[in-house]
Amino acid sequence: MSKVKDASLAAQGELKIEWARSHMPVLQRIQERFEKEQPFRGVTIGMCMHLEMKTAVLGQSLNAGGATVTITGSNPLSTQDDVAAALAASGAYVYAWRGVTPKEHHENLLRVLSHGPRVVIDDGGELSVAVHTERQQLIPEMIGACEETTTGVHRYRALEKEGLLKYPVIAVNDTYTKFLFDSQHGTGQSALEGVMRATNMLIAGKTVVIGGFGWVGRGIALRAKGLGAKTVVTEVDPVRALEAVMEGHRVMSMNDAAKIGDIFITATGCNQIITSEHFAEMKDGAVLANSGHFDVEVDVKALRQLAMSTRTARQNVEEFKMRDGRRLYLLAEGRLVNLAAADGHPAEVMDMTFADQALCAEYLVKNKGKLTPKVYGVPPDIDKTTARLWLETHHISIDSLTPEQSRYLQSWE
Ligand SMILES: NC(=O)c1ccc[n+]([C@@H]2O[C@H](COP(=O)([O-])OP(=O)(O)OC[C@H]3O[C@@H](n4cnc5c(N)ncnc54)[C@H](O)[C@@H]3O)[C@@H](O)[C@H]2O)c1
Repeated sequence: MSKVKDASLAAQGELKIEWARSHMPVLQRIQERFEKEQPFRGVTIGMCMHLEMKTAVLGQSLNAGGATVTITGSNPLSTQDDVAAALAASGAYVYAWRGVTPKEHHENLLRVLSHGPRVVIDDGGELSVAVHTERQQLIPEMIGACEETTTGVHRYRALEKEGLLKYPVIAVNDTYTKFLFDSQHGTGQSALEGVMRATNMLIAGKTVVIGGFGWVGRGIALRAKGLGAKTVVTEVDPVRALEAVMEGHRVMSMNDAAKIGDIFITATGCNQIITSEHFAEMKDGAVLANSGHFDVEVDVKALRQLAMSTRTARQNVEEFKMRDGRRLYLLAEGRLVNLAAADGHPAEVMDMTFADQALCAEYLVKNKGKLTPKVYGVPPDIDKTTARLWLETHHISIDSLTPEQSRYLQSWE
């Protein structure tokens, strides 16, 4: 039995899923093949992902390929209750609702695992960490896992490094058709959308400080610039800092940026990016948001301790009144602003990521028993297939090498 907030929201959720599906032609093509070939017949797939409309389309595609799908959300604020209800009504086992407590989240992870998944699709490594620590009896039958995000890949690599990883994992995050588009353009657009929806503020003319210039950070910086912001980047990696400089952003330490920023968006995957020393320097009215995976980038605990009082200023906006009278505004509790205060990435971009997920899950099942417990990259053929299908379904044609060109490129002469 599924556990969702309100099963009667299913019709409303199905409308959202239909909307997303109609913008995900690549996954639809893959689903049509899955329907015929049934690659997942007899396989239970456990998922821990942001439970919103695009994820539901992925779940339904896996189900159409013969899988029993069981899912929980990967963040307390990213689950959409109507979508969860619709996915449950369509036959998946869903354990998710917006606003779960850490205890409920943990219980939901274990509920997913109670179905005995053979394949795990994780966004942050949570299901697999639970398998490795609390449900080790599942390990012998486990085929493998696919990981969606940078932070999750870090966790899987850490398990591998310590010799503790017990089954093969595909780092779906680390492939071109994911990070070049989803991490960069998807998060770039949706993080700013989250900030704008939450605050209704004008971006033009504002100083937007972006913590981290990885795939996510550069996307946010690009979009903020496009909206007329003065962009500032903070980094710890000199090469990435240099890239940011060459792309026209100001680069400085967070200590300096704290004094001039109007809007701060962190995207490092690291903790303690904005802390007490920065809150002390910020301008009255500064807005704080995070787009990294966990809510550890803005030190919310310290902010709470420093504040004289707090109140909800708007939905997803908490005002912190400091002792000197300044007000700082925290969006979505410091959790992923693009998912908590907006609808996450546009469907067209998730179409590629979830095509990669579906094809990698199929790859794991087809290669059952042949892969050793380590973190694998996405097979290059899958990346190319996803890119080719995206172009085809958007009626974009490209050239192919002539035999003479192929010969030329392979020759040393
Ligand atoms: N919001 C979303 O929907 C979404 C989408 C994709 C990824 N993510 C998450 O966003 C985070 C970043 O992902 P990414 O793919 O850009 O990772 P990345 O590794 O490509 O980039 C992170 C960048 O942050 C920098 N950094 C690390 N520690 C720092 C510090 N203390 N101060 C300043 N800079 C620092 C690194 O040098 C790196 O350049 C991860 O947590 C990832 O899981 C979120």
